[in-house]
Amino acid sequence: MRSIRSCLCLATLIAQVACDAVVDGKLSFYTSSWENWDENTARWSAYEAPTFSAVFKPETEAELSQGIEYLAKYNIPYLATKPGGHGNVPTLGNYQNVVQINLDNFRHAVMNSDHSITIGGGAKMVDLIPTLHRAGREMTVGSFPCVGVHGVMLGGGMGRLMGRYGLISDALLQAKVALWNGTIVEASEKVNPDLFWGLRGAGHNFGVVLESTYKTWPDEGGLHYNADMVFTDDSLDGVVNTYREIVQDGLDPSLFLILGYMYDADAKKPLLIMNVVYAHNEEKGRRVAGRFASSPKGTAEPITRISFKESNMNFSELGSGKAVPGVCDVNLKNTLYTASTPSLFETGAMKAVYESFGSFVRAHPGANRSILLFEAADGKAVDALPHDYSAYAHRGMMTTNAIIQATWDEDEDGIVAEAANAWGKGARDLLAKPEVSGYDKLHAYVNYANRDEPLAALYGYDEKRQRRLTALKQKYDPHGCFNAYRPLPLDMSGWELPTASGAPQRTRDEL
Ligand SMILES: Cc1cc2nc3c(=O)[nH]c(=O)nc-3n(C[C@H](O)[C@H](O)[C@H](O)COP(=O)(O)OP(=O)(O)OC[C@H]3O[C@@H](n4cnc5c(N)ncnc54)[C@H](O)[C@@H]3O)c2cc1C
Ligand SMILES: *[C@@H]1O[C@H](CO)[C@@H](O)[C@H](O)[C@H]1NC(C)=O
Ligand SMILES: *[C@@H]1O[C@H](CO)[C@@H](O)[C@H](O)[C@H]1NC(C)=O
Ligand SMILES: *[C@@H]1O[C@H](CO)[C@@H](O)[C@H](O)[C@H]1NC(C)=O
Repeated sequence: MRSIRSCLCLATLIAQVACDAVVDGKLSFYTSSWENWDENTARWSAYEAPTFSAVFKPETEAELSQGIEYLAKYNIPYLATKPGGHGNVPTLGNYQNVVQINLDNFRHAVMNSDHSITIGGGAKMVDLIPTLHRAGREMTVGSFPCVGVHGVMLGGGMGRLMGRYGLISDALLQAKVALWNGTIVEASEKVNPDLFWGLRGAGHNFGVVLESTYKTWPDEGGLHYNADMVFTDDSLDGVVNTYREIVQDGLDPSLFLILGYMYDADAKKPLLIMNVVYAHNEEKGRRVAGRFASSPKGTAEPITRISFKESNMNFSELGSGKAVPGVCDVNLKNTLYTASTPSLFETGAMKAVYESFGSFVRAHPGANRSILLFEAADGKAVDALPHDYSAYAHRGMMTTNAIIQATWDEDEDGIVAEAANAWGKGARDLLAKPEVSGYDKLHAYVNYANRDEPLAALYGYDEKRQRRLTALKQKYDPHGCFNAYRPLPLDMSGWELPTASGAPQRTRDEL
């Protein structure tokens, strides 16, 4: 391991930095000659991804705070993340050759005596979920072990148990945050409540969360029912209609449904799949899965289920991602589009997207790992909280979410990227049409967003909310140090623009 502790190295790293700038001469910076460079700078998506000139890997909160203060002083842009960070909004790609603040030394997950859990800023789901499970507790968590808890939570935080417990951020009790100047503050209902409000939904904008504490619930025991199914193409009407009925009847809080389109590279066509997870109740889960069983001959919109796999999993297994191998692979190229959609689930649009998916991958076979997910959870727990409970802007408007993900690897002249974006955007626009989505405007969850949505679609159309967010940005991040992730504008005119600039660099004179 070669820690850069001399100002000579640091000076080659960031040319304008003077030798006397090294704080105490002992901040842990690494350059690309570091043997662990590649694994530390890997990204889940290598497309429009941030790149790094150096890695700053603090070991303590004090070191992290000192480092941020130092970077601010010398006007050096940075991004707080971890190895294999999953963030993929393309504004991250505006951050080129920045310093990576590597949070890998902050992965602790500790149960407290009041059953709350405290986790470090670099924790991934794989750190959080087994700790909860061992303690006989649960909360809303993501489905894949490799995803960073904070990247997820700061945008709201969706997961399979959100029907019961709401968003991950709804369970946040307090956070410890290092601001742009290194000052460490608490954010909770009682201390800095304005920051606490903003962290939960627009939280990538204000500082580095060093650790955070959440309410948890007792694990009532019993395994989680999981069913994976595959259908024939001509089952699409039947499956979509059944799905719509279940959603419109109101989902059970313990139920999480995913209707998916995957690609069958051998057959050169899309595959229609369905995943049903029912928390703690095999019987009830099986009943839901049964609604997608093959239908009798002569049914108007028949379902033919060609594969059906059931299992029962404990809380840790459920979050292990083993059901979908390869999801955690790093350095592939991905572009995502999203819309809160199909409360109406119009079958014509669903079919058109299925077909356009097939055409896209047939033309670009290397994109055969692309996937569409239509996720649904009961909204009552999320919607029970007042609309202005937190900066998460979509209460009452996100029972189902469409995630459109194009994934590819080789792409010498950018042709696949161009096709992927054209297809993804087209699919999103179709699903977001009022007559398909049931909403007159686009509502998009920031964590699955791209770059072309208006900021209002991510953070709310209400002007009062926008003023509140911009005021928070001015107060806590006045120089735009945290502008990588669909940044909030520092003045109100920024809400008008279709895309915020997301520029990381302030000029030296501004500070
Ligand atoms: C395979 C996969 C599964 C997913 N599953 C879910 C899911 O179940 N639920 C869901 O809601 N979303 C999910 N997402 C979307 C996810 O919320 C975003 O991709 C998110 O940005 C990932 O966060 P990260 O910490 O891994 O990424 P990173 O790239 O490390 O971070 C993303 C952004 O968050 C900031 N950030 C990260 N940590 C901190 C911190 N401690 N303090 C301050 N800022 C920080 C970074 O600076 C960056 O701007 C998933 C995405 C993928 C690719
Ligand atoms: C949960 O499942 C995993 C994987 O099968 C197993 O290793 C673990 O012991 C289980 N945990 C409990 C508490 O049963
Ligand atoms: C699927 O895509 C991978 C690259 O992502 C490629 O190597 C493979 O050949 C593709 N399979 C088919 C059948 O086209
Ligand atoms: C650090 O920045 C915050 C937010 O902009 C500000 O409130 C605070 O006063 C600053 N701290 C110091 C020591 O200047």
